Formats: sequence, structure tokens, C-alpha cells
Amino acid sequence: SDAELHDRIRAAKATLGEKVVVLGHFYQRDEVVQHADFTGDSFQLANAAMSRPEAEAIVFCGVHFMAETADMLSRPDQAVILPNLAAGCSMADMADESGVEECWEQLEEVYGDLTATDESGRVPVIPVTYMNSSAALKGFVGRNGGIVCTSSNAKVVLEQAFERGQRVLFFPDQHLGRNTAKAMGVPLEQMPMWNPRRPLGGNAASDLDAARVILWHGFCSVHKRFTVEQIERARAEHPGVQVIVHPECPMPVVDAADAAGSTDFIVKAIQAAPAGSTFAIGTEINLVQRLAAEHPEHEIFCLDPVVCPCSTMYRIHPGYLAWVLEELVAGRVVNRISVGDEVAEPARLALERMLAAKP
Ligand code: 13P
Ligand code: SF4
Repeated sequence: SDAELHDRIRAAKATLGEKVVVLGHFYQRDEVVQHADFTGDSFQLANAAMSRPEAEAIVFCGVHFMAETADMLSRPDQAVILPNLAAGCSMADMADESGVEECWEQLEEVYGDLTATDESGRVPVIPVTYMNSSAALKGFVGRNGGIVCTSSNAKVVLEQAFERGQRVLFFPDQHLGRNTAKAMGVPLEQMPMWNPRRPLGGNAASDLDAARVILWHGFCSVHKRFTVEQIERARAEHPGVQVIVHPECPMPVVDAADAAGSTDFIVKAIQAAPAGSTFAIGTEINLVQRLAAEHPEHEIFCLDPVVCPCSTMYRIHPGYLAWVLEELVAGRVVNRISVGDEVAEPARLALERMLAAKP
């Protein structure tokens, strides 16, 4: 039963004590979040992975790319464990190393030597990958002078990239890239989309010449469900409602909302609001429902009336958490996520730049 599972998790954690730290992303279900030592957005959890160097194991309740990142940032002898190895991210899967490398080669044909600097010391293109990408891509970005960003520091990262580069190749999430660059004043016509199936991404060389941000075609299947019509309906039915969405939503949705930000931004906006506020939230349902339960002083609902969970985040069931913890008690490490040095070393360069770009 559920109660038994929770007892088993608590007992295993009590036995392990300081030897284990459990991290939980905001999208995890309540049954998992209640056992987390740290809860947060991607940026906060990357920092949390480094905050307990004495722990022998880091159990990451989140998705694969988050656990890979925790492995690259934590001490080499710390084991990072993903309770269910099937917890991936469909957006991260939309950019693979060979596709991005092919794009990079084509960009070299357009812009020439990608390491050559202009009179102001800038290279033609800086690659920026969203945290939601494989370790291999973070390695690619690190090898090519680029930066990893999260949804909370995307603007700071793009500003830094523009200091060193004339333009940015942003992947995998077209929406985060477009929304962030638009908020910084980059016109839409200077943000061509790259189509990996066509030469030059289907763009004319002259368009690429004028480009400031070249967008990959990836998206989040959870966040692309939100629509402007849902916002209009929420406003009609709930006068005074504040609409806050995640920047993985399509641009018209972000433009129509009152605010957009990372999961932690959403949590803090609700915490800071005067009692009696009404919020329509455009993000994953487990977070929205938890916020609604934790804040009875407000009215909080999801913009999408059809429940939209992140199916891969949901794959971390408390049964898996109990299993990996009990294996640790028995002296066994299961479901370890381990990134080889060849990838991790360059990836760390890009991750260190990310950590330095404070939200
Ligand atoms: P945050 O960094 O905002 O928590 O986003 C992670 C994520 O996967 C959103 O879909
Ligand atoms: Fe990936 Fe979207 Fe799930 Fe975030 S919500 S982990 S981007 S599929």
C-alpha cells in the first residue's frame, strides 16, 4: 500500500542518514516530493547536487538530463541515481549530437572559421543549449565556447553569449529561445529556425547572415498545449486573474500572459502575492495542484482544463524511490547515471558558465 511504501522510504532514509541526499524537481508528484531534501527548478537542483559533497549518493527525482548534470557537477565518487531509467525528456531527445554537429558544419560554410574573431573580439556563433539536453550536447557546447542555460537564467546567458559572439545557435527549445530573445529586443525576422533535414536549415545564406539567434526546432509537448484562447477564457471567467506561464510555452501564449518564468519564478510569485489572489498557471499539473493545495488563501488553477502531466517526470513512482534507497541500505548502487570524462570535461566548462550566470 501507499502508506507502507512511504514507511519504507522513511526507514531507508533514516538508516542512510547523511549518506544520501534526495533531490526532487517541482514537477514530481507529491508522493515523491514529500521525501525530497531539496526541491527546486533545474538551476536550483544543479546547485543542490553540489551542496552535499559528503553524501555518498544523490538520488535525483527528476528526468535523465538533470541526473546527468548532477553527475557532472558532483564529486566523482558520488553516485547519482535516477530511480526510473525511463524518465527521459522528449524535448531533450529532439536534438542529437550528430544533427547539431551537422548544423555547425553548415554554419561554418556560411560564416567561415567559427573560431575567428571580428574587430570587437566576437566569434561568428556561440552555441547555447538549454539544460534540457543530453550530456553529449553539453559537451559539444563546452568544446565550442558555449554556455548551458536554464529557464531561470536564459536572459543572462544570452547577454553573455552576445558579448562574445555575433549570434547564437540555441537548442533544443525553440520557444524558450524565441521568448527570451524577443524580450531582449531581437526582432523575429532575425531568429530563423533551423530545419535539420534541409541544407542550411532551409534558410537563405542572406537570412543567416542577418540572424542573431538561430533556433532549433524542439519543443515541450506539455507546454505547447497552452493557448491564447485558454488565457482569454480564464480572464473572462475570473476577472482580476493573473496569468503566469513557463517560457517553454509558445510565444503568443507568453505574450498574452501577465508574466512568464521558470518553475521557481512561478512558486515565488504565488508566495509573494497578497491573500485572495487568483492565478491561472501555464505549466505542469503536479506543480499547479501542489501550489493550489499549499495556498488555500489564493485561487490557483491550471490554464488547461485537461490535466497535462509530464509523463516522464511522472515515471518516478515512490515504489522506485523505495527500491533504490533500500538497495543503497544493502550496499548496492542501482540505476547509476554516469557520464564519461570525455563528455563531462568539456560539458563542465559550459555548466560552470551556466552556474556563474545567476538568475
Ligand atoms: P525549470 O528549470 O523551470 O524547473 O524547468 C524544467 C523543465 O523541464 C520545464 O519543463
Ligand atoms: Fe521535458 Fe517538457 Fe517534461 Fe520539462 S515538462 S521534462 S521539457 S517533457
